[in-house]
Amino acid sequence: MFTRVCKSETIAEGGMRLVIADTHLIVLAWPDNGEIRAFQGVCPHSATALNEASFDGTVLTCPLHFWTWDLNSGAPVEPQESPLAEYPVKIEDGVVYIDTEGVSPLFVDP
Ligand code: FES
Repeated sequence: MFTRVCKSETIAEGGMRLVIADTHLIVLAWPDNGEIRAFQGVCPHSATALNEASFDGTVLTCPLHFWTWDLNSGAPVEPQESPLAEYPVKIEDGVVYIDTEGVSPLFVDP
């Protein structure tokens, strides 16, 4: 079931923000020349919230140990193995909705 999270005007192309949908912390990002996408908002490395992460319009970087992901896909950029889990997003009448059903954040083995 899709949950309303924010107005689409609160995110600009090349930008990202953290949102919460159904208790899931989520990175909502609009990559340059891409589409708005939603990924887990906690780092797969040690479950740190990604609110301090930097985003250059393509690559998201965790500030703790600098793991990186391409937010066009959630795939890792550096050699670390773990992708980010992606949530379905839809935008209707200027409102962003995210469906969290069946999606869980991914974590590396401890
Ligand atoms: S906690 Fe994110 S890279 Fe280590």
